[in-house]
Amino acid sequence: MNIRTVATKPFQDQKPGTSGLRKKVAVFKTANYLENFVQAVFDTIFDNAAAPAGSTLVLGGDGRYYNREAIQIILRMAAANGIAKVLVGQGGILSTPAASAVIRKYRSFGGLILSASHNPGGPEGDFGIKYNTANGGPAPEKITDAIYARSRALTSYRIAEAADVDLDRRGRQILGDMVVEVIDPVADYAELMESLFDFAAIRELIGGGFRVCFDAMHAVTGPYATEILERRLGAPAGTVINGVPLPDFGGGHPDPNLTYADQLVAIMYGEDAPDFGAASDGDGDRNMILGRHFFVNPSDSLALIAANATLAPGYAAGIAGIARSMPTSAAADRVAEKLGVPCYETPTGWKFFGNLMDAGKVTLCGEESFGTGSSHVREKDGLWAVLFWLNILAKRRIPVEEIVHRHWAEYGRNVYSRHDYEALPSDVAAGLMAHLKGRFGDLPGQRFGDYTVKFCDDFSYTDPIDGSLSTGQGLRVGFEDGSRIVFRLSGTGTEGATLRIYLEAFEADPARQKVDAQEALAVLIAIADELSQLGQRTGRERPTVIT
Ligand code: G1P
Ligand code: ZN
Repeated sequence: MNIRTVATKPFQDQKPGTSGLRKKVAVFKTANYLENFVQAVFDTIFDNAAAPAGSTLVLGGDGRYYNREAIQIILRMAAANGIAKVLVGQGGILSTPAASAVIRKYRSFGGLILSASHNPGGPEGDFGIKYNTANGGPAPEKITDAIYARSRALTSYRIAEAADVDLDRRGRQILGDMVVEVIDPVADYAELMESLFDFAAIRELIGGGFRVCFDAMHAVTGPYATEILERRLGAPAGTVINGVPLPDFGGGHPDPNLTYADQLVAIMYGEDAPDFGAASDGDGDRNMILGRHFFVNPSDSLALIAANATLAPGYAAGIAGIARSMPTSAAADRVAEKLGVPCYETPTGWKFFGNLMDAGKVTLCGEESFGTGSSHVREKDGLWAVLFWLNILAKRRIPVEEIVHRHWAEYGRNVYSRHDYEALPSDVAAGLMAHLKGRFGDLPGQRFGDYTVKFCDDFSYTDPIDGSLSTGQGLRVGFEDGSRIVFRLSGTGTEGATLRIYLEAFEADPARQKVDAQEALAVLIAIADELSQLGQRTGRERPTVIT
């Protein structure tokens, strides 16, 4: 095998964010840009030497523009770095949760996942790359920091001179001294789902006329949902819409929320709406759940799955605990309390759940940002959440809305909303956060109408397993009655800064629970504006996205 050592210079901006390295496609196409990052990953995990004998890497992506080209480059670099074998999804496809499942099943040392999640794709869109470790989860900060440090010191990378691998042909191929095995991207994942959920019960539900609509948003879950929902569970053809993955996601924004999944929303709020609707994002790890004319808030979805977990065979023995990200509502905490299991509050980003799951402390995890999952893999998992809901519906046989209302009546409702202000000038966003933080000394005890500030802080987290400390994870303002407002800057946006404001109030009285969240939170929304000088500093009159 001919290996070239190519001289290179470090890039200043290769620091992985909340979910790996995400940049515009044009940046990734800059000479040596992708190569530098990949070499930095290999150097970090192989300690600046060749890969240990017999190492297997998992490789795949969400099929977005530049996916195939990037895979060919990474394959040649993997061979040059001494990796023995690469498992790559056919067509270069692996959803994020499927990649996690494959890493675990085949005991690979880790994987490279090519995705910018829900960010738009295409030549003008975004691309991304993320390294996952042997447990199938995103590399912890310790490793991503080391990768970044290594990328800053890099002077060369190694790449084999070889022809392209045929990504569409399943089976073994040889690249230099390395084996490339092109695998069915769906089979292992579908088998795992069958082991967790009562497929017979769901098949019966669907066979009885229960109607489902799943929007794959022209992203990676198309083939997964078609195989599982239509082939294995017997849903009629057409149940999966936008099921063909496209490099630019059909020009859409593959983020399953009320704004971007507008086609599904129109169907689920239309006349003759199906019984159940769901969507997933670019790389298949997010989920949105809808009933007929009804939206399930992701924080509620986590709580509800926890409360009903034993209805699914994979969770029949009960759950060990729950973890939720700090800005996620405390609805899950109430379920955990009732079940007598612990509930952990972690910073935003799935990587913080990995240690807790590896240590067996939690079974279910969730984020308000349409992320739900469990210890079956180490990523959030969109289709898993959809199947969990279908399993619950198959057992309880009442509409989605009714399930949620009964849950609120039993546990109380954490009324919740997130307001996003996208593409703000970075200095404006930083100034707003600094201003708010500057007020923290005086805020406790201050009254805003009926709300009295109880505490405010900048959230930090000490990992209970490895003791690592993460600071600066979001500004929290808590009120005496348990309501709270959280301000946080996004770590995944690629244009300016995105400010997220998370609003939460608690309603115990069932007679007052069925209200519109924006109305119920109106006073808190006004307080958020006053506390942060939001309108004045940003000039924005309303959020870009409301969830
Ligand atoms: C966002 C979500 C966060 C999620 C991440 C990756 O990150 O808010 O919960 O883990 O995407 O899907 P953010 O842009 O807020 O940093
Ligand atoms: Zn995603």
